[in-house]
Order: sequence, then C-alpha cells, then structure tokens
Amino acid sequence: MSRRAVYLETFGCQMNELDSELVAGALARLGYAFTDSPDAADVVLYNTCSVREHAEQKVWSRLGEMAVRKKLDPALVVGVLGCMAERDGVDLIRRMPVVDVMCGPGELDKLPGLLDNAVRTKESLAGDDAPGVHDEPGAGSPLRSARQVALQGSASRRSATLAAAEDNLELLDLSRSISPIDSSEGVSKRSAYVRITRGCNKFCTYCVVPFTRGAEVHRPPDHIVEECRRLADSGVVEVTLLGQTVNHYRFEHGAAVTVGGLTQPQKGRSYKGGHDRDPFAGERVTTFADLLARIHEEVPGIQRLRFVTSYPRDFGDDVLEVMRDHPRICRYVHVPAQSGSDRVLAKMNRGYTIGEYEEFLARARAHLDQPEIGRPLMVSGDIIVGFPTETDEDYEATVGLLRRARYKNCFIFKYSPRPGTVAFDRIADDVPEAVKRRRNNELLAIQSEISDSIAREQVGREVEVFVEGVSKAQQKREGLTHGDIRKAGGAITLTIGGRDPAGNMDPGHGAVAAAEPEGDTTAQFSGRTEGDLIVFFDGPSSARGSLTGKTVRVRVDRADRLSLHGSLVEPQGSR
Ligand code: SAH
Ligand code: SF4
Ligand code: F3S
Repeated sequence: MSRRAVYLETFGCQMNELDSELVAGALARLGYAFTDSPDAADVVLYNTCSVREHAEQKVWSRLGEMAVRKKLDPALVVGVLGCMAERDGVDLIRRMPVVDVMCGPGELDKLPGLLDNAVRTKESLAGDDAPGVHDEPGAGSPLRSARQVALQGSASRRSATLAAAEDNLELLDLSRSISPIDSSEGVSKRSAYVRITRGCNKFCTYCVVPFTRGAEVHRPPDHIVEECRRLADSGVVEVTLLGQTVNHYRFEHGAAVTVGGLTQPQKGRSYKGGHDRDPFAGERVTTFADLLARIHEEVPGIQRLRFVTSYPRDFGDDVLEVMRDHPRICRYVHVPAQSGSDRVLAKMNRGYTIGEYEEFLARARAHLDQPEIGRPLMVSGDIIVGFPTETDEDYEATVGLLRRARYKNCFIFKYSPRPGTVAFDRIADDVPEAVKRRRNNELLAIQSEISDSIAREQVGREVEVFVEGVSKAQQKREGLTHGDIRKAGGAITLTIGGRDPAGNMDPGHGAVAAAEPEGDTTAQFSGRTEGDLIVFFDGPSSARGSLTGKTVRVRVDRADRLSLHGSLVEPQGSR
C-alpha cells in the first residue's frame, strides 16, 4: 500500500506550531508522507485556533472546501485538531459532517491512533461495500462510522491529577523526533520551540485558552533541559520556551515521575535512596529563574534562549537577575498589558493595575536595558480594543500606555466575544464595530511610529545578528521565489514544495533547479537581533552556507521602517 499523504495546516499561536511539529513527527515515524498541497492529500488536518472568531472562520471556510471535494473523493480523511476542536466539540461535526477526526490539544498523543482507525475503517468499508463509497458522505453512509473523536472536556480536565509527569501528553513532547542537521543540506532547523507549561489558570474574562488547553501544568525541568540538550546536539542554536504565563513556571519536586507506566525518581535530581531518607531531599522547587539558569548552564550549545509569553504579575527580580547575568538569554520580553485602563483591566480579570504594569516595565529596563553595550531591552505587547464598556476615556488611557511603554512591536486586536467565556455571558459586546476599527487603526498607527523610532535609535550601534539565511529579496533576485533554498556541495538547490516537518523531502516534488553562486559576489542576508529586530546586511555570496545559523556582529547603517540595514563587522567574535 502506498504511503498516505498528509496535508497539515496550522492556525494560531506558537503553541499550535509546536503541536503540529510534534504531530507531524509522530505521523512521519508511522510512515505517513507529507504534502503541501491539500489536493494531493489523502488526509487533510487543520490544527486550529479559537482565540478570536476570525481564526475560526478561516477553518470553517477550509472545511467548506473539503466538503465539496469529499463528494468526489469520499475516502478523503479530514481532521480538526487543536483549540477549536476542543471548544466546539461535537457541535463542530454536526455543522460540518465532513470532519472524520477531532482531537483536542490535550489529546494529541492519541492522534496517530485515531487517524489510523479512521483511515483503516474507511478503507475496509470502501472495500466491503464498494457502492457505499459513492454515497453522499453524510447520515446513512457507511463511511460515517469512520469518525474518531478525542476531546478532554475542560470539566474532567480540571478535576484530574495535574502532575505533568503523569500526563500521557508528556509522552508526545518526550517523543519529539529530533533529526541531526544533515551537513549535505546545510539548512535545517536552527530554531526550536520547547514547551515548559501547558494550559492556563488565569481565566481572563475574554479568553478561551483555559477552556481549550485546560489547567496549568508545568513540565519537569529535567525533561525540558534534556529536550534542549537533544535539540542543541542536533544543531539547534535558538530555543524559545513556551507557555501562556511562562514566568509562573514552578515545578515542585518530591513526587516520583510516572512516564509510560514506569515510576522512577526524577533523573538528575538529588535522589539519595535508602528507606529512612527522603529520596528527594535537597532541591524542592525549580522556579522559572532556576530553569532559565539551568538551561543556560547545562546546554551551552544554545546561543539564544527566549521565552513567551510573560504575565505582568509576579515577574520577580530573580528572573531579571538571571537574564542579566546569563549572556545567552535574550534581552527580549513579550508582556501583554491588554489595556491601559484600570477599570477595563479589572473587568478583564487581569489582576494588576496599570501602575503595577509600568512598575514592572521600569524594573525590567533598569535591570536589562543596556544600549551602550549593544544590548537594549526590547519589549513587545498585546492590546485588546473595544472590550465591553470601553469608553473614550479608557481608550485614551490605552493610548497613553502605548506611548509610554515604547514596545518594539505590539499586537493590537479588536475584542471578539467568545461563547463560554465570562465576558461573553455577562457583559454585552457594546462597543460598535466601527469604533473598534477606528481605535484599532489609530493604535496601529501610533505603534508604527514608535517601532520606527526604536529602529532608528539602533543606527550607529553594533548589534549581534542571528543569521537566518539569504533575504527574501535576494532569493527573488536569484529567481528563487518559492520553496526553500538548500546548500548542497556548493550548489544552491531550489526545492519546490519543500519538505515535511520531519525533514524528509516531499515525495510528490523534488529538486527542480540548481544554480551555482557566481564567484564571490555579494548577497543580501537577513537575521534578527536578540531583541527580535530584523536586520539585513550584505555578505559574500559563497558564505551563505557558513553564515546561516551563526551569530555575527553587524554595524547598523540605517533604519528603514521596521527593519535595520547594516554591514558586517570584521573581525567576527562571538559573545
Ligand atoms: N497568555 C497570553 C496570551 C494568549 S492569547 C497572555 O495572557 O498574555 C494571545 C492574545 O490574544 C492575548 O494576549 C489577547 O491580546 C488576544 N485575545 C485573547 N482573547 C481575545 C478575544 N476574545 N478577543 C480579542 N483578542 C483576544
Ligand atoms: Fe488567556 Fe489570560 Fe491565560 Fe493569557 S493569561 S491565555 S489571556 S486566560
Ligand atoms: Fe489559539 Fe489555542 Fe493558541 S486558542 S492562541 S491556538 S492556545
């Protein structure tokens, strides 16, 4: 039987991107192939987001397209994974019978099994009852019984025992397939996400995440450090730690770890043994500051360590000090304020005042903002406009905050009422759409000026740049506009279609063009500073293989809107 081709599309946040990578790795190990064309796929999977209505609408329209296609191809398997599956539950299937597989974000370890069942059931039904496959795939069709569902239901999730180590889902992160960088291909994954916390306990009144991702669970630090080490050994140099409120990370030691049914002391901890001794005496708690310091010290291969998203409350000086004292931790924090009005913040249940938020920003800058040594602190944020009852005065307070906070960038969202949340149930969505739109556009314009001026402040400075490769403009100049560029023995090979997330070539396509770099001409490279500013600089065309994935020093010559342009500083030394 030929390998089944999977098309996997991801919506939403970095957490979903990581989930998709893990799912793809698990499916690749089971022999599934990947394609970047839904039309060529036997299995179409959407890893979905529910945070705003707009995110869900995109998936509804994709599902509509699949419903049309399935009429012609009833053997097609369609799966909805992620937050929308969890939030909408079986209502989603009622509205879109095209869906065969549903899997919430807390059940993704079961996805390979569900998919396998769905595919096999379809095949056997199609074989047993050939005319059936031509039936409308709706009620009454034998193909309907292929449907597979795994959802947690937030109620059961919240009452469950919440030790991450006892969570089967932990196995999915632990089983991450980490493939070493293939030197013949040069370009491989240099950046990776590593989860430290699942779920969220905050219950901001507008937000679906605590319902879709369940209660906050912290992963054991040994698992996290080990995952970072394996990634670094495979060539990853930039790691971003993920959690909804990363700075609340806290792992209480003292319980044995149960993974895959095996109970064992936590590896690497101070296990003393003996009957009369506490086997886990010594380190009882790993805080977020401890975790950052451990990764920094124990995994020297990671050149850049970042984390998102931070919660403005309880961000202690201990974390800021660890950031200051460990040079490979990036001077970058993403700390959403959501609003500049205390009244609105209280209605959002954010648990801080704007005074407290700004006190945090001042403290962070006092510890970490050192432009004089080329290490300014960059802060990014999120704002929601048009939260129910938001007045002009509240909005003006947000304008004031935005101007004072001086974010490097800020995501600005119009409030989207989400069924099931407290705000949806208790406060009417009373800010007219036109007002939301105007506030949104005004804030975007203000932020754009601030981002510009922050970029201009970098001119004349030397910054460290993590090189991501030749720039998009350069690729375009070379006629390489689609697919990824891979270095193969001095020749640049263009691949239309790319590879699957496990690193395998897409079997449906292949290398279609090869171009030799011409002598030692100049090429434009792009990369990012530790504060996440985009930087363009020129370098020798022949160095694209050796520069990509490295950190270089660049002198900033000019700022052009949101990006910096500069030149390589010689000789290169790294921090
Ligand atoms: N845990 C993070 C945010 C996760 S959701 C934090 O607390 O900061 C990402 C962003 O989506 C939020 O910061 C918020 O700005 C936005 N968001 C969440 N729910 C929303 C809603 N119902 N309408 C509009 N924006 C929303
Ligand atoms: Fe949502 Fe608030 Fe949790 Fe962030 S902290 S995920 S906004 S509930
Ligand atoms: Fe969306 Fe779920 Fe992330 S709702 S923002 S995909 S946690």
